[in-house]
Amino acid sequence: MAKLTVRDLDVRGKRVFLRVDYNVPLEEKDGKMVITDATRIVETLPTLKLLIEKGGKLILAAHLGRPKGRRDATLSLQPVAVKLSGLLGKPVTFVDDCIGEKVAQAVAAMKDGDVLLLENVRYYNEEEKNDPAFAEKLARVADVYVNDAFGAAHRAHASTEGVARVVARRGGQCAAGLLMERELKFLGDELENPARPFVVILGGAKVSDKIKVIDRLLEKANTILIGGAMAYTFKLAHGEKIGKSLVEPDHKQTALDAEAKAKKLGVKFELPVDVVVATPVDTGKLNKKGKPVFDFTNVRTVNGNIPDDAEGFGVGEKTAAHYAEIIKGAKTILWNGPLGMFEDARFAASTNIVAQAVADATRQGAKSIIGGGDSVKALKKAGLGDRVTFMSTGGGASLEFLEGAVLPGVAALTDK
Ligand code: 3PG
Repeated sequence: MAKLTVRDLDVRGKRVFLRVDYNVPLEEKDGKMVITDATRIVETLPTLKLLIEKGGKLILAAHLGRPKGRRDATLSLQPVAVKLSGLLGKPVTFVDDCIGEKVAQAVAAMKDGDVLLLENVRYYNEEEKNDPAFAEKLARVADVYVNDAFGAAHRAHASTEGVARVVARRGGQCAAGLLMERELKFLGDELENPARPFVVILGGAKVSDKIKVIDRLLEKANTILIGGAMAYTFKLAHGEKIGKSLVEPDHKQTALDAEAKAKKLGVKFELPVDVVVATPVDTGKLNKKGKPVFDFTNVRTVNGNIPDDAEGFGVGEKTAAHYAEIIKGAKTILWNGPLGMFEDARFAASTNIVAQAVADATRQGAKSIIGGGDSVKALKKAGLGDRVTFMSTGGGASLEFLEGAVLPGVAALTDK
């Protein structure tokens, strides 16, 4: 059902509690936390600017990382307030709490069009528990609720769901922000009746993570192209050798069922014909998480069976070229999950070939939708981030939405 959006709101003089997804990557540099990718902040600017123009008092709430109810200075949203202020070109007040007197006082001092960012809501355990009393405390400063945090909309937490319920119960409006609206349009409406051929590229590590998406998209797509480590489970199910590759032996039948369904529905289901492999060698070192660090030697491409000493790291260039041909003929493209370990230049070639094909097809008029997470990273790494129709800001949320799940953060908004 269509939801109210910020366009429908009259917020002049009202306190707008605006949930955003500012869960951005940070790195410590000279003792300071520095944002390494501000996309999620940038993408909320249209919503913020519209609400400022409409004269609302914007109280922004967000989470950062998973501090599990403890104050962790490395997960403070303070650097985000600084970044946001620079991007907006106006002051952003930062309050180092998200509930209580300090917040009430700062909000009481706000003028129409002012912007304030609250501290990480996950400094309280009650946030993830969607604790009703905590939601009431957050809602103390909310006349209107806006959710622009698509990336967190799959979580039924206090700031993504509970506050909306409180505001609605009081008779207040709960609306989607412009980013949320765009995400729902591209990952939802646009894929309902796609222009054809509709080609879906699915990568990632596990068949079990993607099976619900595969199942749903088999009902809509003309062609599904499989890559990433999940391809090895398909290979194993076909009786091929997969060496030391990441695999899910328990999901061989899942893989075969997906192929059978594709055949029944007349959907072309393509699997890699060649794989880039390497031989892992234990360095004897441990990483920060205490896990062994491997060197990957003897990088080569194999057709068919993967040797016993080798591990697969992505589809080969023959596969990538074949996929690229199919992509170039598409009118709608959905890409979720990289085709290999693109972070390492030795294994990135095929992902880059596919990324280029998606960009080329877009230039020829195809609609290309990138389903968030690692596929977005891969596209940006290939320098093609601005050459597609839409890149989702969601990771888990995009996946759940593509699976057809109702997202709690969306369900809680007011129907039109
Ligand atoms: C994300 O980064 O995908 C969202 O911000 C949700 O974060 P979470 O997985 O920690 O809930």
